[in-house]
Amino acid sequence: DHGYDFVVVANRLAVDRVTDEDGTTGWRRSPGGLVTALAPVMAESDGAWVGWHGAADEQLEPFDHADMHLVPVPLSGQEVEDYYEGFANATLWPLYHDVIARPEFHRHWFEAYRRVNRRFAEAAAAVAAEAATVWVQDYQLQLVPQMLRELRPDVTIGFFNHIPFPPPGLFSQLPWRHSVLRGVLGADLIGFQRESDARNFQQAVRHRLGHYIKSDRIHVPADSRATDEGSPLVGFDADPSRGTAARRLSAPTAEDGEHHIAEARAFPISIDTQKIVELAERPDIIARSQQIRRELGDPETVFLGVDRLDYTKGIRHRMKGYEELLQDGDLSVGQACLVQVASPSREGVESYRVLREEIEGTVGRINGEFDTLAHTAIRYLHHSYPVEEMVALYLAADVMLVTALRDGMNLVAKEYVAARKSGTGVLVLSEFTGAADQMRQALLINPHDVDELKAAMVTAATMDPAEARRRMRSLRRQVVSNNVQRWARDFLGRLADLKAAAR
Ligand code: G6P
Repeated sequence: DHGYDFVVVANRLAVDRVTDEDGTTGWRRSPGGLVTALAPVMAESDGAWVGWHGAADEQLEPFDHADMHLVPVPLSGQEVEDYYEGFANATLWPLYHDVIARPEFHRHWFEAYRRVNRRFAEAAAAVAAEAATVWVQDYQLQLVPQMLRELRPDVTIGFFNHIPFPPPGLFSQLPWRHSVLRGVLGADLIGFQRESDARNFQQAVRHRLGHYIKSDRIHVPADSRATDEGSPLVGFDADPSRGTAARRLSAPTAEDGEHHIAEARAFPISIDTQKIVELAERPDIIARSQQIRRELGDPETVFLGVDRLDYTKGIRHRMKGYEELLQDGDLSVGQACLVQVASPSREGVESYRVLREEIEGTVGRINGEFDTLAHTAIRYLHHSYPVEEMVALYLAADVMLVTALRDGMNLVAKEYVAARKSGTGVLVLSEFTGAADQMRQALLINPHDVDELKAAMVTAATMDPAEARRRMRSLRRQVVSNNVQRWARDFLGRLADLKAAAR
């Protein structure tokens, strides 16, 4: 029985289930950037992908699809509720996104999180070859690195956090903060989207665990296990007046016992730029984009928003700004149109259901007030679309609105820019996205500031074409030279260097 040299571990498997017209089901490679970037690496290096296949209470055998070996991890209905909808998406997700929604802390959710993380770690340990490289993805699996290190000390472990890492003051609210830090620290290389995320993580590690850190390299003692909170190993909060662990001022010496180095730094993710560019050049997709504009009644300005229906995305703020511009008479229906694609997401989580009702109420109210028989103010679409249709929408849009209140990266911003080969089009981008660190030529805004958002929308709609082109050219250079393939190469290259150095 041979193992795999390269193993990816992610909450979701790299394939989606598809049902044909005749009712037979099969699998299709997931369209996301992560899968696109890693599929070639998997094919080259005898890789396996460990992940949940998306259904509750269903046990599936490992199978091969499109040059990938897939290892499904089963979740019971109760685990979907407690681990996925609960701890991952009603505790960690809101906590890591600036508590835009209030995180809920439930001990039985964390127990399920730990149990499911162990299942993923065991599945990875079972398929990894001797001295394999294992890359663990995202906030759903933060305990896996340390669990895997204990099960398989021979493998090299990477971890990438796709969402923000919160400032220490927020992270400290988490009752299981030590377990989470120790879990992540099982990795040899820890990647974040922004420099500030890496800094937040390092600060939490320094304050809560007292580990020595120099030049992004964290010295992790071997006895730093993912233990329960309150165990004798923790005890750093014993002195409430300090509230932080003693900070090491000198590098550990041999007497400090065994340790490993966990390097923590930023590796901003990107998109499959080439694929988007190719789609944007396809005549049928260009024709479709023209058809979309006609169907919207040929407005002067098409504003576009594309998001998972998530409270982090600032969809309400965007609609508020748009509504006020219509009220003020700065925009009018027929002359302008807002297309909002809101793809269904996490509908088992209460805050997402509440958000949907609010958004749909707001859309109904705005349209009721401003629509004419011929034209609509907001074209709201609660669907997901194939990438071809998304690119047609990008081509149809004069102004792309990315107004997230907090976002790890935001790939929609990058896709829009990649699609705008003509050099026209304006990106309005929230400064609270990871993308804002790199896309400095966008119209950067604070979405909480309604007046600033409105001003940016007007500026975007009326921008001098020469200036728009200048900005778009600069943005495109950035996105073309930093694609997701390069992101994966950078991360895995660094991980290979660390592996070689540790030999
Ligand atoms: C974000 C997360 C991913 C997640 C995706 C979709 O991008 O970083 O880990 O897969 O949202 O959310 P879902 O809960 O449907 O997997």
